[in-house]
Amino acid sequence: MQNPERLVLIIFGASGDLTARKLIPALFSLKVQKLVPDRFIILGTGRTAFSDDDFRKKMKESIKLYSEEKVVNDRDMDEFANSLSYIQMDNTSEPDYEKLKVRLSGIDNDCDTCGNYIFYMATPPSMYPVISENIALAGLSKEGKGFRRFIIEKPFGYDLGSARELNRKLHSLMKEEQIYRIDHYLGKETVQNVLVTRFANGIFEPLWNRNYIHRVEITSAESIGVEERGGYYDSSGALRDMVQNHLLQMTGLTAMEPPSSLEPDSIRNEILKVFQSLQPLRESDVPKQVIRGQYTGSTIRGECVNGYRFEKGVDRESRTETYVAVKFFINNWRWGGVPFYIRTGKKMPTRVTEIVIYFKKTPHYLFQRAEGSLVSNQLVIRIQPDEGILLKFDMKEPGSGFNVKNVNMDFHYKDLADIRVPSAYERLLYDVMAGDPTLFSRNDEVETAWKFIEPIQNAWKNNPGIKIYGYPAGTWGPSNANDLIEGCGLTWRYPCKNLTDDGLYCEL
Ligand code: BG6
Repeated sequence: MQNPERLVLIIFGASGDLTARKLIPALFSLKVQKLVPDRFIILGTGRTAFSDDDFRKKMKESIKLYSEEKVVNDRDMDEFANSLSYIQMDNTSEPDYEKLKVRLSGIDNDCDTCGNYIFYMATPPSMYPVISENIALAGLSKEGKGFRRFIIEKPFGYDLGSARELNRKLHSLMKEEQIYRIDHYLGKETVQNVLVTRFANGIFEPLWNRNYIHRVEITSAESIGVEERGGYYDSSGALRDMVQNHLLQMTGLTAMEPPSSLEPDSIRNEILKVFQSLQPLRESDVPKQVIRGQYTGSTIRGECVNGYRFEKGVDRESRTETYVAVKFFINNWRWGGVPFYIRTGKKMPTRVTEIVIYFKKTPHYLFQRAEGSLVSNQLVIRIQPDEGILLKFDMKEPGSGFNVKNVNMDFHYKDLADIRVPSAYERLLYDVMAGDPTLFSRNDEVETAWKFIEPIQNAWKNNPGIKIYGYPAGTWGPSNANDLIEGCGLTWRYPCKNLTDDGLYCEL
């Protein structure tokens, strides 16, 4: 697949946060690396009244604030800014799309962009159907001389029904091949590296199954809270915001069968099969297999921090979860009986995303082990930060006898000094330009993932008695989540400290 030579990228929601923090810095990086088409125009749209110059100025500020480039020089920025323009429009007004159409054909004439358009929905999700419909009504979604692609930001729906409805709507207006559903975790180098670790190395795959693996843990912890997004988050919660998409996609890559090729559908079919094999949770399983929590006010490094209910835009009585841990199984020959534990939370002690494969113990252990040392091999795939891979294994302690110590074999991406890890959005935007959908969720994947989530949503809705535990900001979540992992002395790699005695982890 090749990057086209000519292209217009139209961003809906161009005055918003996502555009400023992620999209523009990523596009700037692509431009600096000469990875955008020779004739490339970014047309921002939004309600705010900006001139082209205002928009350029604002976007230059975003680049200064958020670009991951080591050196940002004025010449590169000016050159990039020249490719930016802006049109003020109301997403719900049909006549405004006629204005857009005229502007686009003007751009095609002046810049010879050939009618290749990518439409990026960086607006609130409720606008996706309206925008797509209006684009189609204006005759802008039909592919002819040029291609027409649509990037849909997450969340894709808020439950199974709404995701199906959105898919139906989009399919009535365009072909599935034109739709790129973003899950930015799939754009992360280290997430893609799960595939390479598993399928480029002969040593892991023979062990990658129920015979040798005891359990799998996936943690995605954030140290930040909801920041300025309280309004959105309070109607979403961690289950919709992180589990339905990012955590399940990481599960898919960890658990999938080897694809027959690197063709987009070959990989996506295998991920879909994992989702289809997830053992359905019954509503009655939810209290035992799903723990939810919400951060409460606390002191972190001497500084008082608000509890979730006191964040801007959040209901003072909110029962929205900022933490969720789920135990589940995958019903297939490779994974039958192996528990998967996934969890995510905001306001945790640190930012870390990791996949941990716990291998089974040897059947008979011959040696002396230092008190309290680990009892099994672990492969830790560090998705972020400090991207890399860590293998934990036992080794003889030098000296007499056979005392054994658990040691680390540790690879850090940052040790590859001249390798720059591109941001997830850089990779994904590049792929849409090149027409490569591999790292985007297909309609059936999204719906199957929601299907797995649905009983949890229903259980919480139908049984308000299901507990939501408070955890002080800056801790590893409710201690009850430790009990999900059954077995003597077994727990999460970063366990929740049991503070129930002093009442800190109480039911909200
Ligand atoms: C987004 C969620 O999809 O992912 C945010 O909406 C979350 O709530 C973010 O903070 C985490 O992404 P990353 O790349 O920082 O791990």
